[in-house]
Amino acid sequence: MSLQIGSLTVQMGLALAPMAGITNYPFRLLAKEQGCSLLYSEMISARGLLHNGSRNSSLLYFTDQERPIGFQLFGSDPLIMARAAVKLESLGVDFIDLNLGCPTRKITRNGEGGALMREPGRCSEIFEAVVKAVSCPVTVKLRKGWSEQSVNVVEIAARAEEAGIRAVTVHGRTVEQGYSGRADWDIIRQVKEELTIVVIGNGDVDSPQSAEAMFSDCGCDGVMIGRAARGNPWIFKEILSWLKEGRLPEPPSIDQIIAMSLKHFSLLSELKGEAAAAREMRRHTSWYIRGLPGAAAARQQLIRASNFKETETILHNLYRS
Ligand SMILES: Cc1cc2nc3c(=O)[nH]c(=O)nc-3n(C[C@H](O)[C@H](O)[C@H](O)COP(=O)(O)O)c2cc1C
Repeated sequence: MSLQIGSLTVQMGLALAPMAGITNYPFRLLAKEQGCSLLYSEMISARGLLHNGSRNSSLLYFTDQERPIGFQLFGSDPLIMARAAVKLESLGVDFIDLNLGCPTRKITRNGEGGALMREPGRCSEIFEAVVKAVSCPVTVKLRKGWSEQSVNVVEIAARAEEAGIRAVTVHGRTVEQGYSGRADWDIIRQVKEELTIVVIGNGDVDSPQSAEAMFSDCGCDGVMIGRAARGNPWIFKEILSWLKEGRLPEPPSIDQIIAMSLKHFSLLSELKGEAAAAREMRRHTSWYIRGLPGAAAARQQLIRASNFKETETILHNLYRS
């Protein structure tokens, strides 16, 4: 079940979705250790990267253990996107992904992210400029269209293939939809039927069974998982086991959940320093303990935790007798 993205061979089509503020190095590594085979950075501004990006920034940090890893750019100017892609390639990333899906107003009002779905001609210009500028594979992440009245992902995906893009990910929602409603998997199937390059489906995969359903309903080469992986890197191992052996592994124990969240904290501290890690980990830790007894009360305490020790103590007091 391996897939070929240009020159890159990926073991299995199980991807962690790019998520701003979430998929930095520590979380990507944990997902990888649990069987995720394709990692993406969170989105990076092409313009910002050219002005002040350095290998020292936590946004750009990655390790060999994460390979194959793609870094995702957003922007709207073909030339700037191409120059930013060259810079990323020089940092040693394996492939470059282009963001054509972000629905945040701050981004779309500049004609970036999802707003590009309204400009097929500009999409082609960006695809061509970036593909020409780098020798690593270039991929793109698309939405279904800008709105239900302008569903055009099949056309944009065909333009991508034509320009030499090596894989497309389709999130089956319109930009206007944001994250509401259900993702339309039929549109993913339509893209797969039109294209010969790799197609990765995305939207609402939250269990091994739904991953299997997306593969079979859409015929896609890979599935990408976003929100359901937060606080749950084990989802990749579960999907692998389900697809390969038709059975589910034991769910993680409370001790394993605590150990994973503290490992996440430690890695994040190494990357950003303990104070910044503590702030970022409040959300992550809440996701890790979701569904456990006393999780609501624990969350109240965790939002005040300002270092590793405090977080560890809260978790141990609650969950270790
Ligand atoms: C907090 C958050 C941040 C996101 N940031 C990005 C991003 O930087 N780039 C991107 O292409 N998509 C981003 N997305 C969209 C996800 O990659 C994915 O397409 C979406 O969540 C649907 O997949 P899911 O149903 O598995 O969550 C983000 C989503 C969330 C929830």
